[in-house]
Amino acid sequence: MKNDEIKMLEIKEIKKEAEGIRSFFFSKSIEATPGQYIMLWVPEVGEKPFSVSYSNSNLFGITVKKIGPFTSKLFEIKRGEKLGVRGPYGKGFKIKGEKVAVVGGGIGMAPLGFLGERMKNKKIFSFIGARTEKEMIFEKRMKRIGKVTIATDDGSAGKKGFITEELENFLEENKIDNIYACGPAPMLKRIAEIGEERAIETQISLERKIKCGVGICGNCLIGDFRVCKDGPIISGKKALQIGAFK
Ligand SMILES: Cc1cc2nc3c(=O)[nH]c(=O)nc-3n(C[C@H](O)[C@H](O)[C@H](O)COP(=O)(O)OP(=O)(O)OC[C@H]3O[C@@H](n4cnc5c(N)ncnc54)[C@H](O)[C@@H]3O)c2cc1C
Ligand code: FES
Repeated sequence: MKNDEIKMLEIKEIKKEAEGIRSFFFSKSIEATPGQYIMLWVPEVGEKPFSVSYSNSNLFGITVKKIGPFTSKLFEIKRGEKLGVRGPYGKGFKIKGEKVAVVGGGIGMAPLGFLGERMKNKKIFSFIGARTEKEMIFEKRMKRIGKVTIATDDGSAGKKGFITEELENFLEENKIDNIYACGPAPMLKRIAEIGEERAIETQISLERKIKCGVGICGNCLIGDFRVCKDGPIISGKKALQIGAFK
């Protein structure tokens, strides 16, 4: 799929992943690297960015949490209906290292299952954080490719507390080469700091309000860093330097 114009694509399948979280599949291949996103246009509501969460030679998918007006409208759309898609856009994760940690918070897991599946011959340790067990996604998917540690805010699955604490406990005993993360800003800030404290290269996915997706409208700027085009994936070191968490 070329990324320069909006294509109306039929939804082939909708899968419930967890409470209030669904994946929408389009039967079209997309040349995306994990971490890249598409702009999804829903008639009458507008356009928003979503990470590619599934991709193979026949289909791609996005995984969406129902939050506000846009996602509520999207959740009313049925299989067989068409939505506008342009992309993929932005810079994806650079796959590096032999022994890696993948850390996702809530819907931040969306690009990480796809990332894990693209990392061949690596030792993958996944850390999944969620508010509750019911809101957790991709546990089985990550278990197929490596070891999984879970933490929830209420202790309904895994350890009670922040997933970053589980990562730090793990790093006391284990050496890893790279950390890949996506999730809420406080989690990403802590991951970037952990990377700096322990000299581990980190890559994180930034979230800002993206409008054009191609670096021209200025809506997503952090200083002169265009999240839509220069990101959304950025090294934790650089994210701290440009003040991405202020
Ligand atoms: C690069 C990129 C990739 C993204 N990938 C995904 C993805 O894979 N899956 C996905 O579901 N979303 C993803 N998003 C977010 C998505 O684009 C929308 O912003 C989000 O779905 C909210 O849309 P909405 O219109 O339904 O809610 P809005 O109208 O934007 O928000 C409604 C209310 O919820 C609050 N809110 C907004 N976002 C959040 C949040 N994340 N957590 C808690 N409260 C929030 C707002 O402050 C507001 O009060 C991505 C964003 C970016 C920049
Ligand atoms: S969204 Fe337009 S410059 Fe980034």
